[in-house]
Amino acid sequence: MSNNQNIQWYPGHMTKTKRRIQSSLKLIDLVVEILDARIPISSSNPDLNSIIENKPKIVLLNKCDKASKNGNQKWIDYYANQNITALPVDCKTGKGINQFAPAVRKVLSDRITALKNKGLKNPVLRVMIVGIPNVGKSSFINRVSKQSKAKVEDRPGVTRGNQWYSIANDLEMLDTPGVLWPKFDDQKVGEHLAFTGAIKDNILDVELLAVDLLEMFKTDTSPEFLSRFKLSSDELSGNDGYELLQIIGKKRGFLISGGEIDTERAANMLLDEYRNGKLGNITLEYPED
Ligand code: G4P
Repeated sequence: MSNNQNIQWYPGHMTKTKRRIQSSLKLIDLVVEILDARIPISSSNPDLNSIIENKPKIVLLNKCDKASKNGNQKWIDYYANQNITALPVDCKTGKGINQFAPAVRKVLSDRITALKNKGLKNPVLRVMIVGIPNVGKSSFINRVSKQSKAKVEDRPGVTRGNQWYSIANDLEMLDTPGVLWPKFDDQKVGEHLAFTGAIKDNILDVELLAVDLLEMFKTDTSPEFLSRFKLSSDELSGNDGYELLQIIGKKRGFLISGGEIDTERAANMLLDEYRNGKLGNITLEYPED
């Protein structure tokens, strides 16, 4: 498990992170925002665009292996409409990663031309990774920097302590990602982060969480979810979230004394199975929501 998810955010911490990102901005040409493809809004940082001002940005929809294909495409289109390149990637297997460098070159084509016009023969583009805890920043860095193990050392003029990974001949990445905070004052955001396991659920009521997750499955379901719990479409549409939790608990034989269904155990099992991808690929947030 990533240690980052234990980070306690408080105003001082946010200010420090914000300052660090802003001081790195002058060293880089582009910001890479990593989001969770299942919850692109809840895994985003509400202040990022104001922090990075006009710096070009690319969005990586990470963990796309756990999101629905339809959802991934809708988010790609959503960002394209805002003139932002979004790439679906799976940093666990490396799927989609080879699209990254070409996408950066494309987004920065004007900058490359300008640098060449200034006399630079082989301009090097520099990027910085940002994202909330547990979204896959280290996985991405490990993936892309593996292609070239050499770390580019400090150069004159570059702030001391900064190290750069070489991704390609013309592409470098700041080795320390910017760890952003989610919009945690929004209850829905907290819930979505808990569904995906980005935040711990021991501060939340797991049964309520599971009931809400089941309500979401009623609108966007997967064949894996239905077959795993031997649920018919009628059963799914004809019962509310709590009734579904009871049905699932009963089917799994989760009973406590007196024949009552152990809905807490069923809730924990359901959340675990969703997080581990056993319930199929289900996107929890769509642009139209
Ligand atoms: P962070 O630096 O942003 O905090 O995130 P990190 O890379 O540590 O990734 C957090 C968890 O998400 C890790 O799982 C990692 O393997 C997983 N992960 C990252 N990218 C992907 C992806 O594209 N697809 C899937 N399915 N998982 C991804 P973990 O539970 O902490 O460790 P492990 O299960 O890999 O051992």
